[in-house]
Amino acid sequence: MPRYPEHLTGEGPVNPFPGIKVLERRIGREITHRLGSNEGLDMPHRALREHFGDAVVEHVYGYGDAEALGVRQRVSAQQNIPLEHLLVDAGADSLIALALRTTCEAGETVVSTAGTYPTFGYFAQGQGCRLVEPSYIEAPGVLAPDLEALAAAAHQENAQLVYLANPDNPSGHLHSDSAIFKLRKALPDDCWLLLDEAYGDFRDDAGSEFLGQALPGVIRLRTLSKAHGLAGLRVGYAIAHPDVLAMMMKVRIHYAVSSFTQAAAEVVLDHPDEVREHIEAIKARREQLAAHFIALGADVLPSATNFIGIRLPSAELAAKVHQQLLAEGVLVARLAHPALANVIRITAVQAALEPGRLAALEKAVSA
Ligand SMILES: Cc1ncc(COP(=O)(O)O)c(C=O)c1O
Repeated sequence: MPRYPEHLTGEGPVNPFPGIKVLERRIGREITHRLGSNEGLDMPHRALREHFGDAVVEHVYGYGDAEALGVRQRVSAQQNIPLEHLLVDAGADSLIALALRTTCEAGETVVSTAGTYPTFGYFAQGQGCRLVEPSYIEAPGVLAPDLEALAAAAHQENAQLVYLANPDNPSGHLHSDSAIFKLRKALPDDCWLLLDEAYGDFRDDAGSEFLGQALPGVIRLRTLSKAHGLAGLRVGYAIAHPDVLAMMMKVRIHYAVSSFTQAAAEVVLDHPDEVREHIEAIKARREQLAAHFIALGADVLPSATNFIGIRLPSAELAAKVHQQLLAEGVLVARLAHPALANVIRITAVQAALEPGRLAALEKAVSA
């Protein structure tokens, strides 16, 4: 079994503020007169009402439900995930930080692919962890996290946790479910697998049984930032066994997800057709964008996400294209990691398909 930091294995820490929603559920009745919590409950909010309307303002007075029951119930019903296998927090980024805080102590080693989603390494180092980074597998048409190298590094370095984004950012690569099972098996028993599935909704098999499972020794993360379009509101969820989530709840910032965010997430989750429509539109644009650049001769990386990666012949050329586009007010992503500095990433939004919008990139790949 993966290990927890020593200081979390006893009784505490105990959250001093589980919140009113949790208390209401415990005592089985609504609390109609809130005279004990120190929120600004009688703020008139004239300005806010005028700006955003009454419906929004009703959500801003009190702290959000620390257990985010409404969001969890909807995700649970839609994806067939037991309620007790779900924990909601302020986006996948917060969940990465929370997972690290729950599983790792300063001085311990964590492993992730060199050039993958950099927030993981940033948070891990900020927590005093040692970061070990095996390289991607690179071949024509392939840029993929090297699962064997991740497992080997975990053994060699006595790692506490391995991070894998699947589908991966920035490569867009998707490893199969069986490859993930194999990776879990190949890791040391006492090493965690933090599986970041922020782009899971764009998988062609999204909704498969595997995707909803809590796996032993694995903390899976999802977000409503992408397929659900709620990045600015900060909401995502973890899928793991209840004992793991209980540990995470010990160190979670309990009111991190605001009441308005929860209410908005509930509304969006109550309209799955709109989410599906959005996902289908993104996938269609992604394929159109990929076909366009492939036809120009570009090395387009296969993607199971809402973006495509284009590998240019050199980092210098990628930097030049990036600068040219920026000078025109167009921001594409150029990867910061030196190992991937020749990759440009483009999000499959409508603007990317507007004729001439990415002319500098088109010119570079056809040269
Ligand atoms: C792999 C990966 N994980 C996490 C995130 C952050 O998601 P959130 O907005 O839910 O924090 C991103 C955002 O780009 C991402 O690419």
